Amino acid sequence: MNSSEVIDSLSHNEKKLLLTLKQMNGIVTPTDITKNGIFSSETEVMGAASWLNIKKLVDIDENQSIFYTLADRSVAKNGLPERRAIEAIGMAGGTMNIIDLSAALPNGEDQIAVGFLKKKGFINIEKKDSKKILTLTDAGYKALHEKTRDEIFIDKLSLHPVPATDVDKSVVLSLKNRHKIIRENVKIERIIKLTSKGREVLGSGIELGEEVVQITDNIIQSGKWRNTEFKKYDVHTFAPSFYPSKKHLLSRLGAEIRELYTSMGFTEIDGEFVEPAFWDLDVLYVPQDHPARELQDTFYLSNPKKFDLSDYEKLVDTVKNIHENGGETGSTGWGGKWSREMAEQAMLRTHTTVNTISYISRHPEAPAKVFSLSRIFRRESIDATHLPEFTQIEGIVIDENSNFDMLVSLVKEFYAKMGFDKVRIRPAYFPYTEPSLELEIFFNGKWMELGGAGIFRPEVVSPFGVKYPVLAWGFGFERLAMLRWGITDIRDLYISDIDVIRKSPTL
Ligand code: PHE
Repeated sequence: MNSSEVIDSLSHNEKKLLLTLKQMNGIVTPTDITKNGIFSSETEVMGAASWLNIKKLVDIDENQSIFYTLADRSVAKNGLPERRAIEAIGMAGGTMNIIDLSAALPNGEDQIAVGFLKKKGFINIEKKDSKKILTLTDAGYKALHEKTRDEIFIDKLSLHPVPATDVDKSVVLSLKNRHKIIRENVKIERIIKLTSKGREVLGSGIELGEEVVQITDNIIQSGKWRNTEFKKYDVHTFAPSFYPSKKHLLSRLGAEIRELYTSMGFTEIDGEFVEPAFWDLDVLYVPQDHPARELQDTFYLSNPKKFDLSDYEKLVDTVKNIHENGGETGSTGWGGKWSREMAEQAMLRTHTTVNTISYISRHPEAPAKVFSLSRIFRRESIDATHLPEFTQIEGIVIDENSNFDMLVSLVKEFYAKMGFDKVRIRPAYFPYTEPSLELEIFFNGKWMELGGAGIFRPEVVSPFGVKYPVLAWGFGFERLAMLRWGITDIRDLYISDIDVIRKSPTL
């Protein structure tokens, strides 16, 4: 192509950019010329520049620079967990029972802090009569009055973003590996430079004509389109990210699950967060010495501490008999003495199976198809796959024809509709179902347990006069969300990080 052919091929914006370059000695940044008002946006500049680049009239230099910001400003305000821990131990006179530390640093932060302090040699941990005692070392005392390199960096970040060149790599690395402290940002700076071919073309004279951006029916009907110059588009050109509003991942998944179950003829139910152990455990034939009853697994309440069970005295009596000797179910029961006091204890529900059984007590008749999608509570320490509050997908089917095969198909169908057809079903044990199954999906290199299912035992359903097998299941909701979006840390689903939502695919 000779110069005049090249000029013919140029769009309005390309010509405008070339003329601007000529004025500015052959070198510009998109930011500068947008500021000057010559172009209305950097996107427009880069659109023209990439075309000119293809035509070899300009070069585009891209300079990437990395800088850091705080991912969560509360770190700057409250300090790192290890700082709060070391101060708490210092205030306590240099030694402290590890239990007291968890009161000062809740939500599992005490564990993180102790890990760090130990690693840095700031504390010793000693076991004394089943207590764990933390003691500051000399280095620990020194650290009490001295900021660590991590902290100095965080202080800086609280004032302004810090370029990667201004910080030691090891400091970045140690904070980057921790959950949500710092964020790495990439800034791209572009410079547009005239090539010699560009100069040559400019030398032969460029005139800024008229350019049509939008096709109208007039242009088509009049035949004018044949000799009109249209603005060209390059879909690969630089463009700023645009984030349409999206619902939170969990809201989206929740809506999908509700839609799926309702389309299969299920009705949604829910109940209260606080229940007596009686409904959460005893009615479900969970023995009173079951580990799930222990303090370390269940949140018991101090207010209200107890529930009055006298509204269903008859049921209490039946359940007591079933636990002690099987009652009229033909089972031998768990034996021993059933404690009404234990059953009266108020607790945060540990599964939505409590909704299900309470529904059955009111509607024992077949056919029935109900589900719930709601919050449950277990005393788990927080890590990448566990939270003390999470959500269960639960359901039952009572039908004249219900049987175990039907349960397996229901479970598999649910996951297939959610997009997972490789589920593993294994025999399992729950005190309230027989047979029971457990299902797992392969995720992130290992099998991840997603929930359980089974047929309610006669010890559970006979007090309510249910005539047909009750197929029941309870699945993990957050884990399903993790699988769906490839999220490896369950906490990412609950922290307010708009990036997690932005970056999630819309479909
Ligand atoms: N309740 C069980 C759990 O929380 C799940 C389950 C529900 C198992 C219903 C069998 C039947 O893990």
